Amino acid sequence: MRVNKYLAECGVASRRSCDKLIAEGRVKVNGRIASLGEDIRDGDEVTVDGSAVSRRLSHSYYLMNKPKGYVCTVKDDKDRKTVMQLLPAGVGRLFPVGRLDYDTEGMLIFTDDGDLAFRLTHPKNEIEKTYLAKIEGSISDVELNRLRAGVELDGRLTTKSRVRVISADKRFTKLHVTIREGRNRQVRRMFEAVGKHVVFLKRIKIGDMGIGSLERGAVRKLTDEEIFYLTNL
Ligand code: URA
Repeated sequence: MRVNKYLAECGVASRRSCDKLIAEGRVKVNGRIASLGEDIRDGDEVTVDGSAVSRRLSHSYYLMNKPKGYVCTVKDDKDRKTVMQLLPAGVGRLFPVGRLDYDTEGMLIFTDDGDLAFRLTHPKNEIEKTYLAKIEGSISDVELNRLRAGVELDGRLTTKSRVRVISADKRFTKLHVTIREGRNRQVRRMFEAVGKHVVFLKRIKIGDMGIGSLERGAVRKLTDEEIFYLTNL
């Protein structure tokens, strides 16, 4: 098995973050610095920063309704509040699956199952994420169709998305937006690309799994059905 996959399965971090640990020379196999893509065998001793890692028999899965004003990193270099501070004590070493930006609320999964995190966030798997967005002003059919077809961000078109107006009044329009990518601040930037400003953004679904009535800032364990659903997405 590849050393990055093994580390992810041991709950060290997502597979991509494990690649970073390997590239930084922090991972050793039998006392030797591991290289990217290296295979390990049964009985090999793997360490990260000198501590041995071992495979866990079971993983933990939690769901948070992230409030705005929190960053999705373990430690913020600007000393802002992090989502890790909202996790209850005793949940073990978990990491967030993907990211929501500082101002965005909603569904955030935490786990120590690096394989699941990898599958849910890898662009090739095109997992759908649905957001409730509130924008200033109104939006025309032409603009909606541009969003659906793809707008250019960083020189590359966004893939097709579903965009539906939920309600509108004189000042604001609320929409549901479903995307299959996870580019940085993607939904906000998609609206900016058609000249609209997002004033509120919340992730309300991952695949068909919704956030339900979980209060802002609250955390709960995922049910067995939800874990089964996500691991088979
Ligand atoms: N799109 C955004 O703009 N922000 C997020 O956090 C997620 C998707």
